[in-house]
Amino acid sequence: MEKKIVLLPGDGIGPEVMDAAKRVLDAIAVQWNHSFSFESHDIGGIAVDNHNTPLPDQTINACKQADAVLLGAVGGPKWDQLPSHLRPEKGLLGIRKALDLFANLRPVKGFEKLLHASPLKEEVINGSDLLIVRELTGGLYFGTPSERTDNGNAVVDTLTYTKREIERIVDKAFQSAQLRRKHLTSVDKANVLESSKLWREIVEEKKASYPDVTVEHVLVDAAAMKLITNPSQFDVIVTENMFGDILSDEASVLTGSLGMLPSASLSESGVGLYEPAHGSAPDIAGLGIANPIAMILSTALMLRYSLQLEEEAKMIEAAVISIVDQGYHTADLQVQNGTKVNTLELTDLIVNYINTNEVHA
Ligand code: NAD
Ligand code: IPM
Ligand code: MN
Repeated sequence: MEKKIVLLPGDGIGPEVMDAAKRVLDAIAVQWNHSFSFESHDIGGIAVDNHNTPLPDQTINACKQADAVLLGAVGGPKWDQLPSHLRPEKGLLGIRKALDLFANLRPVKGFEKLLHASPLKEEVINGSDLLIVRELTGGLYFGTPSERTDNGNAVVDTLTYTKREIERIVDKAFQSAQLRRKHLTSVDKANVLESSKLWREIVEEKKASYPDVTVEHVLVDAAAMKLITNPSQFDVIVTENMFGDILSDEASVLTGSLGMLPSASLSESGVGLYEPAHGSAPDIAGLGIANPIAMILSTALMLRYSLQLEEEAKMIEAAVISIVDQGYHTADLQVQNGTKVNTLELTDLIVNYINTNEVHA
């Protein structure tokens, strides 16, 4: 099978974890006799440096023509003082909008071997396995206006959602729940926000179309608390853009590190983009110690959702579990009796697992 994959390494640890993902894909290609072609493009700070914009047209065009897109991370202190239209993060928001990537799926599942590596108690995390379905192209992130007023003495950020935008993410979440344990938690702030009231109404309306799924509504503040006191009560969580951003970083604590959390950003019928939930980690960039697992698991999601290569996706996931089970970990994880390795060494171990496991095709 021939597939064209666009790589957007970005900034900070982005290129470091992207190298790891590419090596894993090369190993998969050899094992299964696939041909993946890779084309790298600039996004974020590196694009500002090279093209004076965080999202060059050629990057958008290449993504539109690809079978799938992998993204590392964008941003860093170097670009933090730029005007908002030149910030690296604007490039990320722009590509999500340009590709209409309205559904961001963030699976969160603890690894047996890492239960003790979380600051939460093992018995709290044990058995947790949830999926955050985050709306990705609406809400406060894309508010118009979003500006300073009154000569800089006031600000306005608007939060807009259309019925149609809410319906499609809610449908996606119900469908995801049908493929899992059939329980949906819709998270909102319907006691205060008009947008959340509409959100809740739509979830209620949609319920009838998915009679096999049980539904509950939880306010976002309570959801934040429940997520770390009793995470196993959740199966699928659906929520708007900013709540989903915050809750997913919080949920990463269940896995021991933000460096473990993959994500898939999907559109209705176009190309999908796969990105770790973490950022460019400027504090460790360039040291070669970043955890590549979030990025590597994101490539597994890419194989599953965009390329329909389920066996290959499972192979990557099995490789990650096996290496973690053997106690290998990067410095971000506090593993007892484990072996601390760097990005390259961890990637070597995963690639080696893939190379030495027979494929029964
Ligand atoms: P961050 O996710 O980059 O880092 C938070 C903490 O987690 C840091 O201590 C970092 O070292 C650690 N960390 C994150 N990923 C790791 C990994 N793979 N391995 C080991 N440790 C890891 O968040 P931040 O520091 O708040 O933001 C830094 C920059 O990244 C900002 O410019 C922000 O806008 C950007 N950002 C980008 C994305 C993205 O591109 N998707 C996501 C979040 C933040
Ligand atoms: C993420 C990031 C982005 C977001 C930022 C960098 C714009 O935090 O992917 O979670 O908030 O969506
Ligand atoms: Mn985030």
